Amino acid sequence: MLSFANVSVSMLLCEYKLRLIIDLLHFVLALRKRSGSEVQEHGDGRSHLAVVACGPRLEETLAMLKSAVLLSIKPLHFYIFAEDDLHDHFRKALDSWPRTVQSKFNYTIYPITFPKENAKEWKKLFKPCASQRLFLPLILKEVDSLLYVDTDILFLQPVEDIWALLSQFNSSHLAAMAPEHEEPRIGWYNRFARHPYYGKTGINSGVMLMNMTRLREKSFKNDMTTVALKWEDILMPLLQKYKLNITWGDQDLLNIIFHHNPESLYVFPCQWNYRPDHCIYGSNCQQADQEGVFILHGNRGVYHDDKQPAFRAVYDAIRKYTFGENMETSLLQPLEASLQTTANTYCGRASHLFTKKLKRSIVSAQQDATRRR
Ligand SMILES: *[C@@H]1O[C@H](CO)[C@@H](O)[C@H](O)[C@H]1NC(C)=O
Ligand SMILES: *[C@@H]1O[C@H](CO)[C@@H](O)[C@H](O)[C@H]1NC(C)=O
Ligand SMILES: *[C@@H]1O[C@H](CO)[C@@H](O)[C@H](O)[C@H]1NC(C)=O
Ligand SMILES: *[C@@H]1O[C@H](CO)[C@@H](O)[C@H](O)[C@H]1NC(C)=O
Repeated sequence: MLSFANVSVSMLLCEYKLRLIIDLLHFVLALRKRSGSEVQEHGDGRSHLAVVACGPRLEETLAMLKSAVLLSIKPLHFYIFAEDDLHDHFRKALDSWPRTVQSKFNYTIYPITFPKENAKEWKKLFKPCASQRLFLPLILKEVDSLLYVDTDILFLQPVEDIWALLSQFNSSHLAAMAPEHEEPRIGWYNRFARHPYYGKTGINSGVMLMNMTRLREKSFKNDMTTVALKWEDILMPLLQKYKLNITWGDQDLLNIIFHHNPESLYVFPCQWNYRPDHCIYGSNCQQADQEGVFILHGNRGVYHDDKQPAFRAVYDAIRKYTFGENMETSLLQPLEASLQTTANTYCGRASHLFTKKLKRSIVSAQQDATRRR
């Protein structure tokens, strides 16, 4: 009897422990689920793309956004910073895109804003508005991560492919950019800069992936104060110290910051930010030679003059393409035909690299469109 009671007591105890263990498991699972949904908020399946458009950059910016929606399969959010008189033009253009295209993105339009104290100084630095990008982490406080691109960027692959690099960041990385040059003999920073710059040849800020949560949290080492400074506190002293020595505006400031904090920068290869410099004297971007160009950057106005017809051909092909048409016959084939006429230039000779990745992106995008229908 006694032993029987003992057994039932120990059974009760056992049951009690089991309940405790089950409760604990539930608790752990709930915690994991919660942190899972937080991660989802950051990695919400969308790519967040920002651009700053001023002056005559409307058409160019729309071509960039068009290339992004054409090839991306995952949803996008556009953050468009523009001068006030461009806002309506952007709205009108984007709202006129077909419904099926519009279902792939949302957009928000913002005015150009600078910290009040020194608005004038910031505006006149470099081209109007260019330094806006430095303030994105402070303006878009609720946004975790962002891909900033210049208006003269064209995507030749889905935006989510570059977005995925965020997950390759180690714990000290907070931004990713490509080198300014592959070839030090024609590099600008290593030959002419009168300020510190990142690495051997500096970095180019035309395609800049940022984990802004980390940018806002980090204290940056610098050559102005012995204490490290937060992003919001480092920009103005940096401008004051170097304003007489900088040539490329805010890109130079980024170079100075990452010179002193090199462990914070993830450097991605040149095919993610492919410029005329990579082919103008013969191809010098090895990774593009192998895998093709992923993102084309037509800097120095090459989409609008005749200096680099191969770059212009890509821009024109994307602009002329009508949504809904077959991308192989109405985008890729006309582009290949016009690139053939550029074979008399160095970049024209490398232009099979412009379509290598694009071809594959188009096949995947068409397959996705068929699946959605
Ligand atoms: C755009 O926003 C609406 C409303 O918030 C949402 O339902 C939709 O999923 C969003 N679309 C994309 C592509 O993010
Ligand atoms: C950005 O960094 C924060 C803090 O380390 C992290 O919680 C977040 O998941 C990161 N975002 C992305 C998209 O990797
Ligand atoms: C600016 O350039 C001049 C000339 O090269 C140099 O002497 C000076 O130290 C530079 N200023 C800073 C802040 O580096
Ligand atoms: C992250 O990688 C950079 C090189 O890109 C390196 O300098 C840094 O030490 C790494 N950080 C950690 C925590 O491993």
